[in-house]
Amino acid sequence: MLETLNEIETRAMRELEGIGDAAALESWRVAYIGAKGEMKRVMPLMKDVAKEDKAAVGKRLNEVKMALEGAFESKQGALGGGGAGGAVSAIDMTEPGLVESRAMGRRHIISRVRDELVEIFARMGFDVAQGPELEDDEHNFVKLNIPPAHPARDPIDNFYIDDPHETASPRMLRSQTSTVQIRTMERVAKEGGTPPIKIVSPGRVYRPDTVDATHSFMFHQIEGLYIDRGVSMSDLKTTLLQFAHAYFGADAQIRLRPSFFPFTEPSAEFDMLIALKPGEDPKWIELGGCGMVDPNVLSACGLDPEAWTGFAFGFGIERIAMGKHGIPDIRMLFENDVRFLRRV
Ligand code: DAH
Repeated sequence: MLETLNEIETRAMRELEGIGDAAALESWRVAYIGAKGEMKRVMPLMKDVAKEDKAAVGKRLNEVKMALEGAFESKQGALGGGGAGGAVSAIDMTEPGLVESRAMGRRHIISRVRDELVEIFARMGFDVAQGPELEDDEHNFVKLNIPPAHPARDPIDNFYIDDPHETASPRMLRSQTSTVQIRTMERVAKEGGTPPIKIVSPGRVYRPDTVDATHSFMFHQIEGLYIDRGVSMSDLKTTLLQFAHAYFGADAQIRLRPSFFPFTEPSAEFDMLIALKPGEDPKWIELGGCGMVDPNVLSACGLDPEAWTGFAFGFGIERIAMGKHGIPDIRMLFENDVRFLRRV
């Protein structure tokens, strides 16, 4: 009996090794461990075993049975089959369906670009500051050194909430994120703190422009402000170059053109060389303005211009997104056509 068991085990294991498909494995199962298989057929022989050997032979019988069943299961696993009783399932649950499943939504391109910009400036040590979109003339103009008769204050070019002719500091939708420079410096001075101040502030701004391919009555800017002792124009340029390399790659080129803003002196326009479409010749795109914070602005916010200097910048986020993703028309960013939103 023991010899028979050993012989079955050796033969079964040898055969199993050579099996390479589910059908052959199933025949093997039927032949050895099935209801009418060899293991079942040796069972009746137990009664012929001498009484004193019964325990040992029974134990061996069980061992062989377990060994064959275990070997069958691992072979089944190796062949990649599933299913009970050795019937290999014809359904692969991991196969993708024929119909495209429900489309997943994603964050809007402007939100993504905004967060990417914040992330890059955060790595350079800039905190994020916020300011209200409903502002007043004092933060949007007065403290930014924009005098009362300045054309930028014309009611035609601003969304005033209060009548600017009748109210002392009329409320308005902010036309630039430079307001957050003022609010941040004011807060530091009021709390008795001192620079360094190193912040960026992304957000919406509003101007009653006629909508076309490059204008919208609402768009986004990201403002930057760095105030400390001995901050210079070369710090500004280094920061802008680092930003350009981090966001547009090591080949990115930047250019500063002399310009004028009431709140910076000197002031510059910040351009980058960008190819709007892959393969197209790159063009200089104006991303925003920058400069050294005007001493009048520092004093208006309660900081001593003899002790502190700083730089500031303000970029259009749409401009950056359009340059980065080759988007030709700003309106595509606001129309919410899902075919466009899915592509960018
Ligand atoms: N606020 C300006 C605008 O909206 C952009 C700007 C220019 C921001 C120069 C700055 C700056 O911080 O220094 O056109």
